Amino acid sequence: MATSSQTQTAFRDPAFLANRDIPIHRWVPWIAGFSQQFIEDALSTYTKGLYGAVLDPFAGVGTTLVEADLAGHSAVGFEINPYAAFAAQLKLSAYRLPVKALRSVIDDLSNHALTAEANGTMPTSIPPPGFRTRSPFYSPEVERKVLLLMDFVSRQTDTQIVDALRLAFAATMVEYSNYSYEPSLGRRTAVGRAEIKDHPVALCVARKLTHMLEDAQWYRQHRVRGDRPDGRVHVQSFFDSYKQIEAQSIDLIVTSPPYANNYHYNRNTRPHLYWLGFCDAPEDLKQLEEQNFGTYWQRARELQHVALDPIITDLDITHTLDKIRCQNTDRGIYGGEGWANYITTYLNDCVRFMAGVKWCLRPGATALVVIGNSIVQGVHVPTDRFLAKIALYHDLEIVGIHTPRPTRVGNSITNSSVRRGTAGRTKLYESVVEIRQP
Ligand SMILES: C[S@@+](CC[C@H](N)C(=O)[O-])C[C@H]1O[C@@H](n2cnc3c(N)ncnc32)[C@H](O)[C@@H]1O
Repeated sequence: MATSSQTQTAFRDPAFLANRDIPIHRWVPWIAGFSQQFIEDALSTYTKGLYGAVLDPFAGVGTTLVEADLAGHSAVGFEINPYAAFAAQLKLSAYRLPVKALRSVIDDLSNHALTAEANGTMPTSIPPPGFRTRSPFYSPEVERKVLLLMDFVSRQTDTQIVDALRLAFAATMVEYSNYSYEPSLGRRTAVGRAEIKDHPVALCVARKLTHMLEDAQWYRQHRVRGDRPDGRVHVQSFFDSYKQIEAQSIDLIVTSPPYANNYHYNRNTRPHLYWLGFCDAPEDLKQLEEQNFGTYWQRARELQHVALDPIITDLDITHTLDKIRCQNTDRGIYGGEGWANYITTYLNDCVRFMAGVKWCLRPGATALVVIGNSIVQGVHVPTDRFLAKIALYHDLEIVGIHTPRPTRVGNSITNSSVRRGTAGRTKLYESVVEIRQP
């Protein structure tokens, strides 16, 4: 077992950036996604030429599932964010997109919608009423064009075409807004960028659809054993639903849970959730926040005192939590106490996660979990090593901890030497924890 020292590995960098030019994966940008190459390596190493069942419990926009499906495996995932799940599910059915009909819709969009944009036509669609932002998300002219696009979508009758249009819009919608990812969603002006007064929205969406159409054809040609059912994404929390998977039926898990940081998937996809109609009011988002791995730190820190799951008796873990609790005690919930609550909640969810892995994996099968460490109130939290220890409580084996990304930048740090630019020996890194069902 290699829980204490990390090993360099044959895995390629798991970061999503490299996906930007790869068919299907380029459809939707996702800040914390996997690289396609990483999954390719994992599938070829662990499935050894056999076709099996591949699971991603935290599927995001479906990188694992798409690669598994392409390679001939059955793919199943769980994802609580309805926008990410929608994107993943549509990518998995890309090979069935009606190419001819899509081509003519692209022509229509480029012609009719463009004419409406140019001649000042006023749309009949309205923006999502519950969607509020600090400053207007779209300029009046961009919003008019977006609403004309909505009118265009509402005139379509084929549900696959409607879904493709909605995804093409969602994948591009921030590009022509007054917001940008830095990496959290914030106002462009806050980072010194000019607001966007106007933009050729219809052309931009048509361009995205053209890529999607090319990729749909590519998928059809490359999908091994094409007569299988589509891969499936359950829009449910893995913790509540893993027993829907037949016990010990999964041949490989490749996944990455949210890290113990303050990256806020649901808040960062608010525009997508509201504009696509997945969410109408803040209560809808609250529900997602509660289901999220570790919940959100803003929620956990407000709790009285979160008790660690009694299964965790490891002194290294309990000492780390005590150390966090002792930091900045004068700052109330914003100090150590609040943050210790958050990390405790996160570790308790690692327990639930490993219970699910134990349930799903076939004997001898592997789970690869990509996870980044954190530095909280100046205290190092090696989540990879802690997750490995928690796996052992569930009678899983740790084959190793690999470190394909020995350094990463991130927002998982509060009041730390890394953020203050006086970084000592502790760096942010990303590991792959290799777990085996005995
Ligand atoms: C690091 S991202 C995964 C990205 C993915 N590997 C990809 O390439 O797109 C983690 C995902 O876990 C999802 N998530 C958080 N809590 C969850 C839960 N309890 N059940 C299922 N999904 C969850 C988040 O919404 C987020 O999309």
